[in-house]
Amino acid sequence: MIDYREKIADALQPAMEGISREEILEMIETPADSKMGDYALPCFKLAKVLRKAPPMIAKGIAESIADDPMFAKVEQVNAYVNMFLDRKDLAGEVVGEVLAQGGDYGRSDLGGGRKVIVEYSSPNIAKPFHIGHIRSTVIGSSIANIYDYLGYDVFRINHLGDYGTQFGKMIVAYRRWGNREDVEREPISTLLDYYKRFHEEAEKDPSLEDEARATFTRLEHGEPEEVELWQWFRDESLKEFNRVYDMLGIRFDSYNGESFYSDKMPRFVKELEDKGLLEEDDGAQIVRLDDYDLPVALITKSDGSTLYITRDIAAAVYRKETYDFYKNIYVVASQQNLHFQQWIQILEMMGYEWARDCVHVPFGLVSMEEGTMSTREGRVIFLEDVLNRAVDQTREIIKEKNVNTENIEETAAAVGIGAVIFNELSNYRIKDYVFSWEHVLNFEGETGPYVQYTHARACSILRNAGEDIVAKAKAGFDPNFLTGDSANELIKLLYAFPQVVAEAGEKYEPSIVTRHIVDIAQAYNRFYHDEHILVEDEAEKTAKVALVMAAKYTLAAGLALLGMKAPERM
Ligand code: ARG
Repeated sequence: MIDYREKIADALQPAMEGISREEILEMIETPADSKMGDYALPCFKLAKVLRKAPPMIAKGIAESIADDPMFAKVEQVNAYVNMFLDRKDLAGEVVGEVLAQGGDYGRSDLGGGRKVIVEYSSPNIAKPFHIGHIRSTVIGSSIANIYDYLGYDVFRINHLGDYGTQFGKMIVAYRRWGNREDVEREPISTLLDYYKRFHEEAEKDPSLEDEARATFTRLEHGEPEEVELWQWFRDESLKEFNRVYDMLGIRFDSYNGESFYSDKMPRFVKELEDKGLLEEDDGAQIVRLDDYDLPVALITKSDGSTLYITRDIAAAVYRKETYDFYKNIYVVASQQNLHFQQWIQILEMMGYEWARDCVHVPFGLVSMEEGTMSTREGRVIFLEDVLNRAVDQTREIIKEKNVNTENIEETAAAVGIGAVIFNELSNYRIKDYVFSWEHVLNFEGETGPYVQYTHARACSILRNAGEDIVAKAKAGFDPNFLTGDSANELIKLLYAFPQVVAEAGEKYEPSIVTRHIVDIAQAYNRFYHDEHILVEDEAEKTAKVALVMAAKYTLAAGLALLGMKAPERM
């Protein structure tokens, strides 16, 4: 694909003596209002170097490039040079390129196969998988998709919270009051009940706490009976998590969580000690971070057991040694900002020069319209229930609207679950947001169903056009038919797509893709509204079908990056 910025910089260069190419590239803007051109050059900054008034400079530059065939028109307006690309050439270039790349449009080898680890979801075993977990799960998965698309070698890790003293309590509770059938029938809520019961009983009988501690120590030492129970709790919980991952179409390359690092800890405690970073404090081992304005980090407790941060230190080094990552990305809630600041600081103090290749990608809170969640008061909204409800409601809407589909169940799942994913990825991740059913499932707003529906409408036009015309369009088309305002707006958005994907990767921000495909869907619908597509004239029809197809490919690629399906009928 032609890089128009580069081409424009080439054209501008002769009239901008003394300004470096880099600077010229930086100065070129894309005006929000296309009446000001497809590209514009503000000349204020040039006044000093060229020793003339900015409007005079703009005039000179505009005249110098006016005859370049790349432009249909060049205007000087005050201190600006406004440049309008030749619409026909742009249409031929962009639509031709999208059709050539098809379903892979926007894919690149920017990453050159370098290894990127994306850690996401990472729920805690035997704890409810609730609506709060959707954020890490969906944002992380999309970031992984985006990096994959950009040509990185992506490795997806679910760093399960499968370790800690609570497992001692759960084992004690299970042995006293539990039974196998209950756990197998409904693992997470049953285990959670045991855990709650433990706390109730321990108030009356504090010796239970000692028993739990001893049990956890046995687990840490690898005693077969404890390990077997713990393993079983973990397996049963994972079954439940996997049901949700299947619904979301999400997968992982590794489920190595906290427990995986439990036997790798002594090496790091020793290393911290050898490097003079460890201090004893009341039997516990700590690292002081005063010099960095951070609170003390607890590395081991007085009973010798390790902590969350210790396991994260071990995990980072393990990942570097095992995968030799270029980047190691952690998609974890902003509530853990402090933890990650301490952790990265300690890695730096240990002398790991790759510490800054580890990136914490934080995100804000989700709350429900009906009020905040509280595990203690039993106000938990399970993610699985949310997804099921989204599918149920979508099924109703589909029936009501008499949607044309061969498989209602499949479409309801793609659209219902897609709606939840899309909603999750609509705003900047760092913003807190309120989950609203009305908004999520709206087919008209800036929502998942709207984009999917637009894609399906494009598919329907292509079916109506017939295979013949579609094949012709792929082979070639006359771009003179694609120069109307709404066609041109759509084409410019398609052109920007690869750049948008790269930017979303750089900023770890899938919402940039989300917003862009909403823009494309809206531009497509304007084009569809303004122009008659399946006209008599075959050359015109072929060209318009080519643009519809290009829009369809780009929408589908964008949806896939978010982790959504793009049904062909709905
Ligand atoms: N299990 C943790 C939680 O649910 C999240 C783990 C985040 N990842 C990490 N490497 N610390 O809060």
